[in-house]
Amino acid sequence: MTTREQALALDAADPLRSLRAQFNIPPGVLYLDGNSLGVLPVATAARVQQVVQQEWGQGLIRSWNSAGWISLPQRVGNKIARLVGAGADELVVADSTSVNLYKVLSAAAHIVQADEKSAVGACAGTRRVILSERSNFPTDLYIAQALAAERGLELQLAEADELPGLLAGALKDRCALLMLTHVNYRTGRMHDMAALSKAAHDAGALVVWDLAHSAGAVPVHLHRDGADFAVGCGYKYLNGGPGAPAFVWVHPRHAPRFWQPLAGWMGHAAPFEFTPDYRPAAGITRYLCGTPPLLSLAALECGVDTVLAAEPFGGMAALRAKSLALTALFAQQVQAHCPQLQLVSPPEDALRGSQVCLAHSSMAYAVVQALIARGVIGDFRAPDVLRFGFTPLYLGYADAWDAAEHLRQVLHTGEWQQPQFAQRHAVT
Ligand SMILES: Cc1ncc(COP(=O)(O)O)c(C=O)c1O
Repeated sequence: MTTREQALALDAADPLRSLRAQFNIPPGVLYLDGNSLGVLPVATAARVQQVVQQEWGQGLIRSWNSAGWISLPQRVGNKIARLVGAGADELVVADSTSVNLYKVLSAAAHIVQADEKSAVGACAGTRRVILSERSNFPTDLYIAQALAAERGLELQLAEADELPGLLAGALKDRCALLMLTHVNYRTGRMHDMAALSKAAHDAGALVVWDLAHSAGAVPVHLHRDGADFAVGCGYKYLNGGPGAPAFVWVHPRHAPRFWQPLAGWMGHAAPFEFTPDYRPAAGITRYLCGTPPLLSLAALECGVDTVLAAEPFGGMAALRAKSLALTALFAQQVQAHCPQLQLVSPPEDALRGSQVCLAHSSMAYAVVQALIARGVIGDFRAPDVLRFGFTPLYLGYADAWDAAEHLRQVLHTGEWQQPQFAQRHAVT
C-alpha cells in the first residue's frame, strides 16, 4: 500500500510532470477517461481559431496549397507513425476507425485470396475465415461481419487464449485474416503483438491490428512485431478532440497491392486531373477517400504533438513506465480498500494496457455516476465494468491515489445508492 505522502513524493520526482502544462483540465476534475476522449490541449483552441479565421477566413480556397491543407493527412500521419513503430509515408489520417477497418480488411482479404490463387490455382478458396476475439470492440466485429457477408467469408470468434491453438491447428489452412484489438477496451488486457502476428503468418494468414487503446498509450512496434495492417483512433490517447479522424497504416509490402474499396478521389494518383478512371496513388495515400475534415485534422495535430512532446523525456517508453506505475498504484489501493470490486485488468505489467477495469455485477453503473458527480471521471462499460484510463501525460501519482480514495468513499458511504445515479444516460 502507498500513502498519499509517498504518492506526492513520486510526483515531485516525476520527470514527466511538466507535460501536464500542455493541457486545459478543469479545476476539481480527476480525468480517468483519456481512453474515451482525451483532454483539451492548450494549443488546440488557438490553432483551430487560426485555421478558421486566417486559413479559411482569409486564405479561402488558396489554403489548400498555401497552408498545406492538402498534405495534412500525410503530415499528421507521419507524426503518429513515430508513436507506433511505423516508417515515414506509411500512415495517413483519414475517416473513422470503423471505416478504415473496412478498407484494410477488404484489401487484406484481396491479397490473401490472390496469393492463394497464384499458389494453388484452381484449388483456391479454402482460406475463408476471419478470426477475431469474442470480446473485441463491437464495431470491429460488425465491420468484419459486413465484409464477410459481402465476400463470402466467415467470421469466427474465440477467446484470447484459444487464438494460438486455433491458428496452429483447426484453422491452419483456413484462416485468411486475424483481426485483433491490441488492448481490449473492456478489460485492458494487451495482446502480444509479435507472438500473434507470427502465429497468423505461420498459419498463412495476414494480421490486422486495431490500436484504438494503444496509440499514445503503450509502445507499439508495427514493423518489429510483424503487423500487416493497423487502424486507430485520434480522439482517445492522441487527444485529438471529439470525433477526431482516425489513422490507417499498411505495411509497405502490401500498400501497392490492390486498392481499398472506397476508391475516392483523394486516394487517386492525380486527383486534380479529374480523369474518369480510378488510378490509385502510390503507397498509403491510396487509403484516403474523400476530402479530409480540416478543422478536426488541425486539432488532431495539436493532440499528437502533446504525446510527441514526451520524446525528449524518453518518449513512449517513459510514458509506459509511468502508466504502469499509475495503474498498479490505483489497482493496489482499490484491491486493498474495495474488496467488493473485482479487478478484471491483468495484474501482470506485460499484459496490461493503460487502463484499470473493475467489475461488479449490480452497482457498477451507479458507482461510476457517483464518481463523476465528484469530478472523478471514468466510464461504465456494459454489462458490469467500471473503466479507468490513465494518461501519464497529465495524471500523477497523487491523482491515482485520490481516485482510489474517492472510490473507497463512494462505496463506504453508500453514496452510489442515491436515485439519480441509477438514471441511465445515452452515452455511458
Ligand atoms: C477498439 C475500438 N475500435 C474502434 C472504436 C471506435 O471506432 P470509430 O472511431 O469508428 O467510432 C473504439 C471506440 O471506442 C474502440 O474502442
